[in-house]
Amino acid sequence: MSECRICDNQNLELILDYGDMPLVNSLNNGEDSKTYPLKLVRCPECGLVQITETVPPEELFSEYLYFSSQSDTMLAHSKKLVGELIESRKLNEHSFVIELASNDGYLLRYYVEKGIPVLGIEPAVNVAKVANERGIPTLAQFFGLEEAQRLQAESIKADVVHAHNVLAHVADLHGFVEGIKLILKPDGVAVVEVPYLKDLVENCEFDTVYHEHLCYFSLPPLIRLFADHGLMVSDVKMQKIHGGTLRLYVTHDLDYKDFTKRIETVKEQLKTTLAGLKSQGKKIAAYGAAAKGCVLLNTCGIDSRTIDYVVDSTPAKWEKYMPGTGIRVYPPGKLLENKPDYVLILAWNFAEEIMAKSKDYKGKFIIPIPKLRICG
Ligand code: TMP
Ligand code: ZN
Repeated sequence: MSECRICDNQNLELILDYGDMPLVNSLNNGEDSKTYPLKLVRCPECGLVQITETVPPEELFSEYLYFSSQSDTMLAHSKKLVGELIESRKLNEHSFVIELASNDGYLLRYYVEKGIPVLGIEPAVNVAKVANERGIPTLAQFFGLEEAQRLQAESIKADVVHAHNVLAHVADLHGFVEGIKLILKPDGVAVVEVPYLKDLVENCEFDTVYHEHLCYFSLPPLIRLFADHGLMVSDVKMQKIHGGTLRLYVTHDLDYKDFTKRIETVKEQLKTTLAGLKSQGKKIAAYGAAAKGCVLLNTCGIDSRTIDYVVDSTPAKWEKYMPGTGIRVYPPGKLLENKPDYVLILAWNFAEEIMAKSKDYKGKFIIPIPKLRICG
């Protein structure tokens, strides 16, 4: 391998040369071990740290001796994550969860306990067998683009895809990530955990470099890798497990067509509501001569014909006008004298604070964003 596994750059910088190394998980009966070169390099283009040698995965993973359920730390870490996801994503018996490199079912078991359907995909045949015996449906397969296309043909898609400590093992990163995209529902999330390069370097964890781990990740190359496939790293949480782990929450990229549609709905609702009130002869004022309020009023074409005035606690804004609207700014006390029927809260980010401060005002509040609400 002489090209970066993410960006194909050929000028990789040598960081460490370990010389020849046996396959460290092939515990044997005392015979001589075959060795392979082990060199750690960094790509100056995308920042990916990686090793140069790719040992065929069949040699590494056919008889695998690593059973994740052996570790109580691992089980506790998984149980906590599953609990959080079930709660935050409201998962139930109609949801579907897929884990890539699901090992012996150490994580999926916590979904199964709650009646949530799962599928594990685990290349080590002996480990997959243990999972199936424990009642965790598991395919003894390598996951990649091909396997993802096969699942896609069967219309199998997940609300949550787990990929923990597997990305570093994958030679074809782009195929694997495209595969994740294919099996992820439009509003699904992929939870990806990788050992964090920063901890490896800072804690001198040089002994975690071996042939099974092709890549050593930091955030920028990961963001780029997912972005190449229309996926977005929408959240990151640092974890202590395995000497320092990056947990990424990956979703489909933002849907700008839908964004535009939702904006139209917000604007239409506000205009219709205000026009309706106006036609009933209601008095309408606004609260917060904020910059965002100016955008809202101007994009909706709302001006002093609809809104009588705006109040704001900033003395420097008093007696001035909101640009493009002809709406004049007064101190908040004006609401108590003038008693408008409705107050449109333009500084909606402070809506709760503004309503709490305005207890003596007895009319109603309109909060336009994210969804029109009328309070009071
Ligand atoms: P901002 O959303 O750009 O920070 O602007 C908020 C505006 O709202 C700013 O002009 C101050 C005003 N404001 C009040 O008038 N009363 C309040 O209680 C708060 C929190 C803000
Ligand atoms: Zn690169």
